[in-house]
Amino acid sequence: MANTVVVGAMWGDESKGKLIDFLAHDKHVVVRWGGGSNAGHTVVVDDQEYKLHLIPAGILHPETLCVVADGVVLDPASFVGEIEHLQGRGVSCENLKVSGNAHVVLPYHRLLDELEEKRKGGRALGTTGRGIGPAYQDKAARIGIRVREFVDPAQFSDRLAEVLDYKNELLTKVYGVPALRADEMLEQLSPHADKLRPYVDDTALRVAYAAKSGKNVLFEGAQATLLDIDLGTYPYVTSSHPSAGGACIGTGLGPTQIDQIIAVSKSYSTRVGAGAFPTEQANEIGDRIRERGLEYGTTTGRPRRCGWLDGVALRYSALVNGLTDLYLGHMDVLCGFDEVKFATAYTLDGHTITDFPSDQARLCRCRPVYQTLPGWAEDVSGIREYGQLPGNARRFVETVEAHVGVPITTVSVGRRRDQTIFREA
Ligand code: IMO
Ligand code: MG
Repeated sequence: MANTVVVGAMWGDESKGKLIDFLAHDKHVVVRWGGGSNAGHTVVVDDQEYKLHLIPAGILHPETLCVVADGVVLDPASFVGEIEHLQGRGVSCENLKVSGNAHVVLPYHRLLDELEEKRKGGRALGTTGRGIGPAYQDKAARIGIRVREFVDPAQFSDRLAEVLDYKNELLTKVYGVPALRADEMLEQLSPHADKLRPYVDDTALRVAYAAKSGKNVLFEGAQATLLDIDLGTYPYVTSSHPSAGGACIGTGLGPTQIDQIIAVSKSYSTRVGAGAFPTEQANEIGDRIRERGLEYGTTTGRPRRCGWLDGVALRYSALVNGLTDLYLGHMDVLCGFDEVKFATAYTLDGHTITDFPSDQARLCRCRPVYQTLPGWAEDVSGIREYGQLPGNARRFVETVEAHVGVPITTVSVGRRRDQTIFREA
């Protein structure tokens, strides 16, 4: 397989980082296509844990070229902090490139994210507070500042003066907070611009040539399908395109060149932030999943909402992403339950439905219809062959596979690289 796209199947935090790291070993290029430091991708290698937010998880493979593409919104301070942290742990960032066309997240984006959430009160989205929505707003409004402008001191100071004029009107007149000062911001950001400059590149051309010349390119999704601004559970979504089509936006990958699309799912569901979640277990079942699965945010530390695996949402995800493969993770977390549940339909206003309604108004009224399966007591974290899994664990995998209609080609039984089971085709 040449060009592979990895997406989150539902609401994020599926351990995409683990799969990306795993697949990256024979890839020439790994490309992160969207989102920003709202993502939290954890990779565990030999009991060393790496938490990545902006840098592709391929960075742990020194030969692999890692690209931060046009669609990413890049917070310079967090990007530089991540590079320094990795270098401090002996990870080389020499093969890292950042698109000059990516937009930068500036201090007023974070401030506006926070102010906007406060203004919404009870209707707040529960964003990660990383300035993501406001940065994409500026991009769409064509007042955003791109990386190439940011690293050119003269251009950046001109652009900042222009944009800050408008932002300060908003901050002082709408939100009633003090104006921000351009000189302070320039002083604070110029060391980051200096550190970022050597990484800036025309990445779309680089990726397009690599994809065309038969190199193996891996596209690393951040966030997940149900957080997609169009296909997701709007308005409780992020502001980018984390579903598979997003991999073609601004990266240099033409849609005809995708060979494989893998969605990463857990064997249960989680969500952070607000929004409908039909299979949520706000009870001791959810608590048990949270504790066993360490379901606390990598980026914000928030406890995640937990529930049973939602097969209705998963089928939708398979359909709109055009999946070729499904990865089912966290199988170790489910062990010890007498029985496990899997939602195969919803009831909505007295009718049974099997297609996922992505709008909040209808999704809020959906109640899951569960298939109950026998659980497994055995610890599966040391198992490396599919046939060695307890019969009930295999039955769970095969039930999900039959329902979703996409082959589950990989099963994960733990956080480390080696705790991964590949199934024969
Ligand atoms: P990874 O890549 C889980 C959620 C936030 C919030 C909504 C909007 O780790 O899977 P934003 O800050 O993007 O404006 O927040 O989206 N969200 C995520 N949830 N994992 C993520 O990324 C997320 N990125 C954003 O919790 O509900
Ligand atoms: Mg996350």
